[in-house]
Amino acid sequence: MKDLLKTEHLSRGDVELLLETAAKFAVDPTAASNTLAHKTVAIYMSKPSTRTRLASETAVAHLGGTPVFLRGDELQIGRGETIADTAKVISQFCSALLIRTYSQSEVDELGANATIPVINGLTDYDHPTQVLADWITIREKFGSDISGRKFVYFGDGNNVTTAWLMMGAILGAHVVAATPEGKWAPDNQVVETAKRIAKENGGSIEVVHDPIAAAKDASVLYTDVWMSMGDPEAERAEKELALKPFKVTENLMAQAASDGIFMHCLPAHRGEEVDASVIDGPRSVIWREAFHRRTTIQSIIYHLVRGELKG
Ligand code: CP
Ligand code: NVA
Repeated sequence: MKDLLKTEHLSRGDVELLLETAAKFAVDPTAASNTLAHKTVAIYMSKPSTRTRLASETAVAHLGGTPVFLRGDELQIGRGETIADTAKVISQFCSALLIRTYSQSEVDELGANATIPVINGLTDYDHPTQVLADWITIREKFGSDISGRKFVYFGDGNNVTTAWLMMGAILGAHVVAATPEGKWAPDNQVVETAKRIAKENGGSIEVVHDPIAAAKDASVLYTDVWMSMGDPEAERAEKELALKPFKVTENLMAQAASDGIFMHCLPAHRGEEVDASVIDGPRSVIWREAFHRRTTIQSIIYHLVRGELKG
């Protein structure tokens, strides 16, 4: 596998390898500091980012390389240069490219035309680098035996939901998405694909609309912002009303398993999708989760440039 374009492209073996190496980079960030010696990695973003940018730039530095940050609106792509030509040009200079943008098809097209590994750093469809950080954090807490555990996402059926469902499916987990019905439920195609992958790995995928029942005995309660980057402002009021029952409150947290934890990819809006007392409370693992954005992106770059992911 040349690129990491979608979470669903990873095999279970790839995920195990990526998490194992990320754990090493957590202990010793410079464990493979010659990997990118005298090399560069492009980080190309058309949407804002705090964590993914920091994680990528520091990961490249720890691998001995130099990150080159590119803003979408400063490239010739904004003046009509094609995605294919841009991919070929970046390939002349850099050893890998991490891209954050709107449409998944742009990332797919970059991957198809670049001769270097292309990594999806978030699209409207998926957020693969995030969910690897989530799962290394989950394993640190619960170990790798996840039988009998339930992993629940609450809120908007968005890019993070895609990643959450697909990665849970790959790892054979019992994964639930608790979302409103209709417009803000996860895409049917995503759910069908996740179900197929879950079946192959002994896991299960459920989409439900009762947040209290979903939270019952859950090991993880996970949420994300209600308004994602690029979501139409005109829909805000309607969307907030629909999502309100899926806010992770103290009451929802009280339904969780006794060792249940709270997770959030961040950025967070306290008082909207989560109570401040939950996200800042003793069961929240958000800072460790954020820390692992670097270890996992470092692992992804390390294995992709060495051609070690199989898909
Ligand atoms: N979680 C995440 O991707 O954060 P940023 O948008 O800050 O990169
Ligand atoms: N769903 C959010 C995730 C941010 C990391 C967004 O796309 O804005």
